[in-house]
Amino acid sequence: MNNILITGGAGFIGSTLANFYCKDHKVTIVDDLSMGNKSNLDLSDNIRFIEGSVTDVQLMSELLKNNQFDYIFHLAAVASVADSVERPVETHQVNFDSVFHLLELIKVNQPKLKRLVFTSSAAVYGDEPTLPKQEESVIRPLTPYAIDKFAAEKYVVDYYHLYQIPTSAVRFFNVYGPKQNPESPYSGVISIMMDRYKKLLKKEETSFTMFGDGTQSRDFVFVDDVVQALNLVATSKESLGEVYNIGTGESIDLNDLVSSLDELLDSQLPVQFLEERSGDIKYSLADISKIKAIGYEPKYTIKAGLEKYVSYEL
Ligand code: UD1
Repeated sequence: MNNILITGGAGFIGSTLANFYCKDHKVTIVDDLSMGNKSNLDLSDNIRFIEGSVTDVQLMSELLKNNQFDYIFHLAAVASVADSVERPVETHQVNFDSVFHLLELIKVNQPKLKRLVFTSSAAVYGDEPTLPKQEESVIRPLTPYAIDKFAAEKYVVDYYHLYQIPTSAVRFFNVYGPKQNPESPYSGVISIMMDRYKKLLKKEETSFTMFGDGTQSRDFVFVDDVVQALNLVATSKESLGEVYNIGTGESIDLNDLVSSLDELLDSQLPVQFLEERSGDIKYSLADISKIKAIGYEPKYTIKAGLEKYVSYEL
């Protein structure tokens, strides 16, 4: 039984990961509940929940001094690109400073750590047009979010090379699935769409706001595949000091996404078109050959993932 720390563990991806691990391992969660929710977590004696922020240096110091972890997954972040454009100083504290502090705390207090996995983002590639994105592709972060993720990721990997701290980093493409919070205008687009469909099916007045013309495309990856990928990266030897894309290797544009959901739910979501968001990336698609080489195989096409998500939500 391993001792696992998941920051951001009450959030969408973190809670799915925590619920996966708590069957066989002890899981400690630090989450400030800014986007996450305790109700996302399975009730289990194996889960210890600490309400607090990863930017709280004292809290994190005490936690890492008083506990020896086998694995640490650092998922706590302000996940919204648009939010980072609005609040660059605040989001920098969460998306960058917390990582740097964590690395230093690990260096001093966690001699038996097997792996720190840091979750970075496909946003680091920016809108340089070559697709699909390989880990070695041009990096062109366009927003405070992307700059913070890239800088943090670099530190994480360098701490392996410089100090032999066992680390890996992953770049999430667009993750979706149950428990993704649709409440904020900055939430992941599929969770927002799902929320609007729910209203539509209840015959409430609603519409989806499309920023831009809907031809922007994303590599949407179902959260269960992300959990599989995180577990592989954390436990494989080859992944030490390495960075991996986590996606599916397929993309879809937003207009087609709405059409697919319309068909699946036998309805027609009203769409309102607005100006595109500043800092928005036009096309995004992952090359996943590197992570496939350590055993990853996505199980969900976008169609299969949407079906599973819909059956969970409705
Ligand atoms: C997303 C993630 C980010 C991750 C990145 C990796 C979220 C909130 N953001 O950013 O954490 O690092 O992928 O690729 O999950 N849109 C609309 N209407 C809406 C909301 C969004 O048209 O109501 C559009 C956006 O303008 C954008 C697309 O949908 O073109 C996707 O937006 P979003 O889900 O916020 O994700 P990313 O910005 O790609």
